[in-house]
Amino acid sequence: MKITVVGAGNVGATCADVLAYREVANEIVLVDIKEGFAEGKALDIWQKAPIDLYDSRTIGTTNDYSKSANSDVVVITSGLPRKPGMSRDDLINTNAGIVKSVTENVVKYSPNAIIIVVSNPLDVMTYQAHLTSKMPRTRVMGMAGILDTARYRAFLAEALNISPKDIQAMLLGGHGDTMVPLPRYTTVAGIPVTELIDKDKLNAILERTKVGGGELVKLMGTSAWYAPGSAAAQMVEAIVKDQRRIFPVCIKLEGEYGINDCYLGVPVVLGKNGVEKVIELDLNADEKVLMEASRKAVREVMDVLDKLG
Ligand code: LMR
Repeated sequence: MKITVVGAGNVGATCADVLAYREVANEIVLVDIKEGFAEGKALDIWQKAPIDLYDSRTIGTTNDYSKSANSDVVVITSGLPRKPGMSRDDLINTNAGIVKSVTENVVKYSPNAIIIVVSNPLDVMTYQAHLTSKMPRTRVMGMAGILDTARYRAFLAEALNISPKDIQAMLLGGHGDTMVPLPRYTTVAGIPVTELIDKDKLNAILERTKVGGGELVKLMGTSAWYAPGSAAAQMVEAIVKDQRRIFPVCIKLEGEYGINDCYLGVPVVLGKNGVEKVIELDLNADEKVLMEASRKAVREVMDVLDKLG
């Protein structure tokens, strides 16, 4: 198995590191436009192999996509991260062109790859990669839901003083402030979360989750990378090992949830063909309103991309 991670910045390098450490593939290629950067990060990860005892080979290249040829899965992390005061959508002008040209190179050398987009604004960059790649929607997806649910689960674990391992959660919608966490589908070792925490505390956690990325940007002056990198690696692992795991993933909706032609996070089964199945939850009236608000917000930014051409 061969995996390529494009963008050797914080998120891309973390993703490659997790993939190597977990031995998800025997060959991991890291690509970056900055001279020597990907080579250095890949070498550093490789030099950690004798310490952490893995044998995945990591190779770096400065924009030579021929080294990524015939990858099974490609993760696109390229583009600028946001700075304090910016929304993810503010990145569209810069990142759309970057994701377009990266996708062209990816498809040229790995026409059968499954593509996972991590660049922001996430849902619209998934749209960009899907448009450019001309691949079936099941092979071009965005990573956000695993990250957003992880934040939600981490906050809950802290509030309940329990292990995050026992918290299961689902979330829908765009990767922005209109994301739709679903308390009705949140359980702690099988117990509905609503039986363990009072409404106000839970609402505060839901609100904090929605702006979870922004909280970190404020603290660090740039975007997060450990959880985003690990989340992307978890999607790669599910595909490469054909695990058929259920995760919230951004995909083009074609009628599911009554929505057409919009890229949004929904629960899917991830396996060797990419998105094996989109799961449709029976949303209640309130959840439908929130999903519609999220659709509108993403559609507006998709329209900006359409105008950019
Ligand atoms: C995140 O949620 O951490 C990423 O989308 C990066 C960001 O700017 O918030």
